[in-house]
Order: sequence, then structure tokens, then C-alpha cells
Amino acid sequence: MKISVIGCGYLGAVHAASMAELGHDVVGIDVDQPKIDALQRAKAPFYEPGFEELLGTSLATGRLRFSTDMADAGDAVVHFVCVGTPQKRGEYAADLRFVESAVESLLAALKPGDLVAGKSTVPVGTAARLAELVESKVPGAMLAWNPEFLREGFAVQDTLHPDRLVYGLPAGPDGETARAMLDEVYASIVAVGTPQVVTDYATAEMVKTAANSFLATKISFINAMAELCEATGADVKQLADAIGHDDRIGRKFLNAGLGFGGGCLPKDIRAFMARAGELGADQALTFLREVDNINMRRRIRMVELAREVCDGSLVGKRVAVLGAAFKPNSDDIRDSPALNVAAQLQLQGAAVRVTDPAAGDNIRRSWPQLDAVDTPEEAAERADAVLVLTEWQQYRDLDPVAFGKVVGQKRMLDGRNALDRDRWVAAGWTYRALGRRAG
Ligand code: UDX
Repeated sequence: MKISVIGCGYLGAVHAASMAELGHDVVGIDVDQPKIDALQRAKAPFYEPGFEELLGTSLATGRLRFSTDMADAGDAVVHFVCVGTPQKRGEYAADLRFVESAVESLLAALKPGDLVAGKSTVPVGTAARLAELVESKVPGAMLAWNPEFLREGFAVQDTLHPDRLVYGLPAGPDGETARAMLDEVYASIVAVGTPQVVTDYATAEMVKTAANSFLATKISFINAMAELCEATGADVKQLADAIGHDDRIGRKFLNAGLGFGGGCLPKDIRAFMARAGELGADQALTFLREVDNINMRRRIRMVELAREVCDGSLVGKRVAVLGAAFKPNSDDIRDSPALNVAAQLQLQGAAVRVTDPAAGDNIRRSWPQLDAVDTPEEAAERADAVLVLTEWQQYRDLDPVAFGKVVGQKRMLDGRNALDRDRWVAAGWTYRALGRRAG
């Protein structure tokens, strides 16, 4: 099939390369010339395990190319819209500017019989509005909503082997046609029995925001338990293990710590609340405000803990922050809990050094006020406290004895419950973590 992918950020670039891997002829289109140049040279503009290899092999087959010219979408019959929907400045609502302009500029390249397939995360009601626009400007063209559930760090795997396919379709015969076209796009994924949910626009849009809200709620639930554990001396890690054995609950997404960040969960729950308000149903989602609050409180608690171990004041203290990406195996620092904590520590007078195996360049670009260094040892040199704020494997593997020789004071604050407490304590470290007893 001939496919265009509009928007070559994280979602779009991975989608485009994956669709070529499935055997389709794909053009990825973006307004950002440097990004397109990099992609065309098989250079990933972001860190994602396995992506650059996939990009290289897909480009080599000749089935994938990139362009800044929307007219190049003219040959395609299925057009995936993969642009971002960031949070509006100073508001909770999603900013739909990019989705709207992508669809508007695509109109000139659309032909009757083409399918526009939205993948971006949008407020419920957006697809119906865009469908009206598409159908009125290009009679015979159709629109479907086909949300994406990829996780950063697993983007290639999640795109090529998704755990479900969700199609939000128009009513009537167009719906049948659109479904058949999407089934053809995903033929090899459908063939292995991947569950499909075929539904209307509103449900498809909500599947995505509901899924992310559920995940955020699960994390904040265990982090609320961590607050109680701190008050009672109980251990949140063991608590999570114990409740996680109940398969109705499950152990995944019950890792207590610094909480969620990144380009999706925080903005999606806020946009969902804003949309519920617009629809007159805000009461339904007031709990998400608490989910957000619990999440943000963990960052403050982490700073308090650092102040506590530094004898009550951070002024003039040397603090090492290990980890800056919002999660491991990613260089993404959008709404990074780690950097938020690093900045708060600095504001309270600490001399902060930050390190991350992948996000160094991003820190230097976006947070020039922070002192970014390359290795944990450089960060921790003569430090009064070390904070692990993103659970990279490299930090789990640190040798507490050797690392203890670098620091000024052996004080380890494990913001992700990632380290083996007993090993660190045995090596003479003071070990503190969120939701767990001091070691
Ligand atoms: C998320 C969804 O998982 C994905 O399905 C959706 O398509 C996009 O949003 P992503 O943002 O890549 O994906 O990251 P995810 O792995 O979900 O982690 C989100 C945040 O939650 C990270 O900051 C992570 O550190 C935190 N987290 C996750 C926890 O604090 N505890 C956990 O138990 C799990």
C-alpha cells in the first residue's frame, strides 16, 4: 500500500519506518527540514533502541523516504496523522494547532477514496470535527481514528507487535471501507490474531486517554501508599509485591518512587480533565486532579529528603543527580521528574551536578543552568548526597564500595527504589528511599 505519515516526531518516525518494514511504500512528511534530513540519512533524531537499525533497513529497501513537501503525500491512499498535541501554555487543555494544520494542509493532496487515519492523542470530539472537514472538502475521502499506545524505549516493538488495534470508524459503508483499508495496512499484525476493537470515533479517542489515565492512577495510587508507608514505617516495595500478586491488580505500574513524567501521561490526564469540563462532566474526572497532585508531591518530598540527609540545609551542599530522562532507555526530558527535582535542589542553594547516559545533550540545550556531566563518578565527586532519579541499569549496577570512594559523604537517595538497599548499607552508605524505611 502507499502510505503517508504526517509528522515525523517520535510517533510518526517510528510509525513510518515500521509501516515500511511491514512492506508498504511510505513517505514521512514533516515541516522540520533538519529532522527530515537526519531521517533521510538514517539518523534517529531521538534515542530509541532499535529504531536507527529499522530506519536504515527500511530506507535501504527503497520503501521509505522522507520529505518536507506535503504534495508528496499525493500518491498515498492512507495518510497517518502523527503530529503532537502538547499541553497549552498555562492551561490544562491540549493544543490542537498541529493536528488542525496538518489535516488542513493535507487536504490539497487528498483524493476521493483516500483514508486519513489519526494517531495523535486528541480530546474526544476532535475526530468527528476533522471528519466533517475532510468529507466536505474532498468528497469521497474518509477519516478514521487509530490511536497508538507505544511506550518510549519500546516504540519499535510496540508498533510492530501491538497488544491491540483500535479503529474508530465513521458509520455506514465508509466505515466498512475504512476498516478494510486499515486491515490491509496492518495485515501481518491482524494475521497473528492481535485483538481488534472496532468502534466509533469518540470511543477510539477515549481509549487512549482512558488507558493513560488508568496507568497514571495506578502509579499515583502506589505513591499515595508510599506516603502512608513513610508515616508508618511500612515498606511500599513489599506492599506492591504483595498486592501485585493478586492478578486482578497486577504488579506492573506499581513501582513507587518519583512518579510519572514524560510527554504523555501528565499532559494527557490534564487534557482529559479539561475536556470533561468542556463537556459539563468534570465531576467524573476530579480524581485525576488528585492523581496529578500526588504525583507532583513526590517531587517535593524527594527534595525534602535530600535536605533532611544534608543536615537540614542544602545551601552550599554538593548534590549529584543520577538520571535526567523521564524514564530509562530514553533521552526524553519532557516533564522529567528528575530535572524538576534537580532544579528545586539548585534553587535551595545546592551545587547540583546532573548526569544521564542518553539525555546529556538535551539537558545542556534545555537546562543550561544545570551542570551536566558525563559520568556518575564526575557527578558524585565529593558530593554530600547522591540521588538516583531515573532507574538506568548502569546505576543499578554501580558498585557501592568503589563509588563510595568518590563521594564526600556516603548518602544515597534512591528516588526510584531501584537499588539493592542491603548492598549499599553493607558498604557503609546511608540509604533513603521514597516509601521505605531508612537503611
Ligand atoms: C505512556 C504509556 O505507557 C503508553 O502506552 C502511551 O502510548 C504513552 O504514554 P511513556 O510515556 O513512554 O508511555 O512511558 P511509561 O513507560 O508509561 O512511563 C511513564 C512514566 O511513569 C515514567 O516517568 C515512569 O518512570 C513512570 N512510572 C512508570 C512510575 O513511576 N512507576 C511505574 O510503576 C511505571
